[in-house]
Formats: sequence, C-alpha cells, structure tokens
Amino acid sequence: MVLDAEITRLAQDIVNAKKVVALSGAGMSVESDIAPFRGKGGLWEQYDPEEYAHISTLRHHPEKAWILLSAMQKEIVKARPNPGHLALAELEQLGCLSTIITQNVDGLHHVAGNKDIIEFHGNLQTVTCMDCGNHLPSSEISLDDRPPRCNKCNGVLKPDCVFFGEAIPVDALTRAHHESRTCDLMLVLGTSAVVYPAASMPEIAKSAGAKVVEINPSETALTRFVSDYIVLGKTGEVLPRVVEQVRNLKGV
Ligand code: OAD
Repeated sequence: MVLDAEITRLAQDIVNAKKVVALSGAGMSVESDIAPFRGKGGLWEQYDPEEYAHISTLRHHPEKAWILLSAMQKEIVKARPNPGHLALAELEQLGCLSTIITQNVDGLHHVAGNKDIIEFHGNLQTVTCMDCGNHLPSSEISLDDRPPRCNKCNGVLKPDCVFFGEAIPVDALTRAHHESRTCDLMLVLGTSAVVYPAASMPEIAKSAGAKVVEINPSETALTRFVSDYIVLGKTGEVLPRVVEQVRNLKGV
C-alpha cells in the first residue's frame, strides 16, 4: 500500500516544478489488459523479439512478424484507457504536465485526452505499404490475413511503429531530447528503462538538473542510479491519488 505521505511528496514536487515531462512504458497499459514485454506473462516470454519483431523478419518473413503484430493489435483494439491514463490527461489539463514521451504503441494516451505526446516507438493505429507507400488506418485491414496486404498494389503492410533494427524517427528523437533537457521534473511511469535510446531520457533530464521520480511496482535499472525516488505501486492506482492531491494543493 502506497502511503499518503509518498503521494503528497510527489504531488508537491509536481506543483513546485516549472515543467513536468513524463516517460511512459508498457506498465502504464497493464491495467488496460495489454501485456507488457518483459517479466512473467510478458510478450517476449512467448515471442523472441529478435525473431518476431526485427525489421528483417517483416521484410523476409512477413507472415511470421504478423503473428506477433496481430496478437498485439487484437489486444489494443479492445483496450480502453485506465485510471492512470486518465489521471495524466487531467494533469495536463491542470497545467501540470507538459509532454508525454511514450514508448507505447497503443494510442491510449491520445484516447485518454492528452494533447502533447511524443510517440517514441511510433504506433499501431496506422499502417503503410512497404511497396507503394499507401497509408491507411489499421481498422481497415484484416488481422486474419498473414500478412495483411495493400488494397492498391498487394504489397506487404507495415505498422507505423519502430521495429528492432530500425532507427527512432528523427522528429521524435529530437523533440524527446529537447523535452528531457528542459524539464525540471521527469516522471518515469511503468517502464523497465532498459531499451535505448528511450531509457536515456531520464539520464538526460537528470544531467540537466531535473528531479527524476518513478512510479512502478518494482525497482528498475534507474532506481538506484538515476531516480531521486520511486513510488512502488501501479500507475493506475498511484496517479489518480497524486492528481487528487495536486488539485487540493492548487485549490481547484
Ligand atoms: P517492459 O515490459 O520492459 O517493462 C514494463 C514495466 O512496467 C516493468 O518495469 C514493470 O515492473 C512495470 N509494471 C508492470 N505493471 C505495472 C503497473 N500496473 N503500473 C506501473 N508499472 C507496471 O516495457 P517497456 O519498458 O515499455 O520496444 O519496454 C520498452 C520497450 O521494449 C518497448 O517499447 C518495446 C520493447 O522491446 C520496441 O518494441 C521497439
């Protein structure tokens, strides 16, 4: 059970900060019934990422890459924002959250209502034909086709997310660097912080003088080295309590 004192400490840090940026990961969406990648029940337990999630697999064995992609898409289509996502949207409305840098491809921060989101690993909401560049919503493709093909040229479709072996889109990388360098509080939410370059954002923030605070039920690679402190709990439970305290402190 997370103590009220920990919640109040984080709420005070948020209210006192000039610019708050969040880095979110798969743990944020666990309470929306989307499996994380690592640990028990994680996607990488079932699918070896180098085998299923590498860009060369999509190029040379698209039917195999789409086994994993279809499984992810089917979970995401059913998912709704959880109280953690909704709390972050409220924090932005209160003027207490500048930007979310998310590693998630599920689009749930958008659905929850946040406006300033950097999709560091892209998203699964749209797909692009690898042959002719035709761009369409994922809702228009059949997930039973392996692989789904372009309705114009029959080329293989690629979701607009970042695969292993691919670079982070330049715009996302540049903006994420800027936001990390210029915040004075970074919230690190539901990420194991082991995949780079996303995991370097808290390090960049810290080097630029920001406070770094994690919310996660488990300690991570950052906990003892980069973070100022960690609130050990689920984002869907901790964030709503923090936002309630923020409202109290701001008198709204
Ligand atoms: P991981 O699966 O590596 O880590 C999920 C984190 O969420 C862990 O630290 C858990 O302790 C934590 N967690 C679990 N349940 C939680 C809850 N209810 N509330 C808060 N935290 C919870 O996911 P990411 O760190 O996002 O990249 O993984 C980073 C990248 O690795 C992904 O974007 C993906 C993957 O390979 C690509 O595919 C390019």
